[in-house]
Amino acid sequence: MGAGAAADEVWAVVVAAGSGSRFGGSKQYEHLHGRTVLEWSVATARAVCAGVVVVLPAGDVGRWAAEGTVVVAGGDTRSASVRAGLAAVPAGAEIIVVHDAARPLATPALWDAVVAAVRDGADGAICAVPVTDTVKRVDGAEVVETIDRAQLVAVQTPQAFRAAALRAAHARGEDASDDGALVERAGGRVVIVPGSTDNLKITHAHDLLVAAALASPVAP
Ligand code: CTP
Ligand code: MG
Repeated sequence: MGAGAAADEVWAVVVAAGSGSRFGGSKQYEHLHGRTVLEWSVATARAVCAGVVVVLPAGDVGRWAAEGTVVVAGGDTRSASVRAGLAAVPAGAEIIVVHDAARPLATPALWDAVVAAVRDGADGAICAVPVTDTVKRVDGAEVVETIDRAQLVAVQTPQAFRAAALRAAHARGEDASDDGALVERAGGRVVIVPGSTDNLKITHAHDLLVAAALASPVAP
């Protein structure tokens, strides 16, 4: 377990069951300094957590394995994939961290920070960075309003939750682009911790080039 670990058990759900349509293929298996994007994310999860559930496309289950992980098949949406992962997390886990495999450069310190914020009493703790672009609401090509950037953050994973809060939020069977949104909707208290612009998500092909430039060949 990572620094500051207490007796409560922390498990991870690493979701990697997407198809990478914007990337142009299965980005989770792309190589980054000799390891796949998925292996980077799983290595950090294993360093910080008591157990790790890895969620893969159904056709890849049985073709990928890593010591200390449980592998399950994902669903049609990211939220469905998280639900599939949650079903494999032991009932005794008290904190669950959900992470996109597509963010290979999330550091152990970032994982520890979201876990610590849940230990401090939040239902959920998500990492976020300030928005640097000006953001406007539009209707087609017409600008409706300019939104005050000071009140906005861009959200990343890892996201840590009290296990009961995350399971209850997912029991509603709804979809959202992150788990924090589901816990918020269910009335939970979600807090942010400082993320990092280095913790980029591999979305488009050029993101892999940026990640390779940012990544240390030996970490974590
Ligand atoms: N994911 C998943 N199951 C899905 C969809 C997404 O497990 N049905 C995972 C992806 O593998 C990724 C993370 O959720 O690690 C974030 O999703 P995203 O970056 O959107 O990845 P993809 O859905 O694979 O990419 P795209 O949206 O471009 O198809
Ligand atoms: Mg997607």
